[in-house]
Amino acid sequence: MARILILNGPNLNLLGTRQPEVYGATTLQDIEIMCTAHAPSSALAFLQSNHEGALIDAIHAAKGAQDGIILNAGAYTHTSVALHDALASIELPCVEVHLSNIHARESFRHHSYIAPVALGQIAGFGALGYLLALDALHAHLHAAV
Ligand code: DQA
Repeated sequence: MARILILNGPNLNLLGTRQPEVYGATTLQDIEIMCTAHAPSSALAFLQSNHEGALIDAIHAAKGAQDGIILNAGAYTHTSVALHDALASIELPCVEVHLSNIHARESFRHHSYIAPVALGQIAGFGALGYLLALDALHAHLHAAV
């Protein structure tokens, strides 16, 4: 049974009401329900925080406790060397997710500090991106066994 942490960063607690024209009408709770239904034989843990340090603590705690991470770091994607370093330190596979296509938006969203320490990035598919990330992580973990 794969143990996967689904970690969401700042402002993602507001999904559903936050700029629905960009991020859709699906709430974070809806996404968690969708993920649980999509991966019934995995042990999923969910955490959302608006605080960079709390996200870093969660990444550290995942070492030895989880098999992989799905991370939407929100705006910290574009700013946080500390999140990059945390992921680089724990040697767990991580799939980066964004609801919106960050490469088709403002130039400050084009750079990701997460991408170099992620298996890959899924962006632009809305809530479906989390399910695609689960499939990608499962495929990676299965191939690694
Ligand atoms: C986001 C994209 C980021 O640029 C933005 O700051 C977010 C959400 C996304 O899921 O599309 O908060 O990560």
